[in-house]
Amino acid sequence: MHTEPGNPQHGSEPDRPRIDRRTLFAAGAALAAGAAGAGAATALTREDHRPAAAPPPPAAIPFHGARQSGVTHRQLPATRLLALDLPADTDRAALRALLAAAGDVLARAAGGSLDDPRLTGTPPLTSLAAIGPALAARLRLPAPAGLAELPALPGDRLDPARSGGDLLLQVGAEQPWTTGILTEHLLTAATAAGAALRWHQSGFLPPAPDGQTPRNLFGFKDGTANPDPADPALWQRDGTVLVYRRIRMDTAAFAALPADGRERAMGRRADSGAPLTGSAEHDDPDIYAKHPDGSYVIPATAHVRLSSPRLDGGARMLRRGWSYDDAPADRGLLFCAFMPDPALFTRVQTRLAERDALTPFLTHTASAVAWVLPGAREGGVLGEGL
Ligand code: HEM
Repeated sequence: MHTEPGNPQHGSEPDRPRIDRRTLFAAGAALAAGAAGAGAATALTREDHRPAAAPPPPAAIPFHGARQSGVTHRQLPATRLLALDLPADTDRAALRALLAAAGDVLARAAGGSLDDPRLTGTPPLTSLAAIGPALAARLRLPAPAGLAELPALPGDRLDPARSGGDLLLQVGAEQPWTTGILTEHLLTAATAAGAALRWHQSGFLPPAPDGQTPRNLFGFKDGTANPDPADPALWQRDGTVLVYRRIRMDTAAFAALPADGRERAMGRRADSGAPLTGSAEHDDPDIYAKHPDGSYVIPATAHVRLSSPRLDGGARMLRRGWSYDDAPADRGLLFCAFMPDPALFTRVQTRLAERDALTPFLTHTASAVAWVLPGAREGGVLGEGL
């Protein structure tokens, strides 16, 4: 099986929760014994009657590392984004203190030592902290040269109250319960340091069988063609740039298209995720393949054609999106992508806004760009290099 490491659900990582085969067997044996009644049960030893052991808890994800876990680690099913504004007189020392306080919360939560009875053990957590372009410019921080707000893009319907921010924090966990509790602790630390909440946004991934790519609200596998998060082209001194877009999706109108119309709009098959030019999910989409009549197999307006890295000299972004569901008429995708220069996003989105067959079904309602800081190394604190 193809195991592209950038795929959020392709976990070769050791932390993936696994149910031990023996546990399954023991559980199955206990069930069978119950169904067959006492006679059959006598064939079992005393050991077989012990309750099956609970599956081992999923392993912790280290907070410390050269790069932040919210980019490098597989996506967890629940996310929360927080955008904070900092007072106009914030200097580098105040920013470092704020980052150290937020990092302390995240490190303790990831290590199981956050003092909160609602969190037990070491729940797997991912996190990232990132700095908005205005603050980076004001404090002359050593951010990537391309860090800047995006230009106005065709079709944008952005709500400023849900966009931008000086400091972006994102946490990921197995449950919204956990991201909610972390939000509380992070906001307590941040407001004590003078920051104010600007916006927040929750998102989720649907349950996907182990190792499979999760689907978005249009029903397609999302996250298939991604670079490896370790690809050096995504990084600048262990930092990178996050582009966030809150994209409302008209799921009912899209679902009303005929099935082959939906697949032609995407350029991929709905069931397998395979490109229209291939047969398996991870086959490379061939955007140059043509039918005998000269028309493209992946149509000229298909999403995977217009977003293809081949149209950007091979430059790629790492997409890690979550769905959101804030109201029946406000559901969609929290598009999060990492790249060293957000100009790549602008180029791709300009093509999509003009021609993508998905565009009539999408509305971009919020936007943010932020410099994802290098991680806190073991024994160090978040933001120490600033
Ligand atoms: C709600 C809006 C969107 C939906 C539903 C959506 C859905 C998808 C799907 C299903 C795929 C194919 C599977 C995969 O490789 O992950 C895909 C690929 C991709 N999308 Fe989107 N997408 C959306 C918005 C965007 C935006 C705004 C951008 C960037 C401006 C973008 C960039 C890409 C890229 C770069 C690929 C991979 C292309 C390739 O390498 O083959 N998408 N998207």
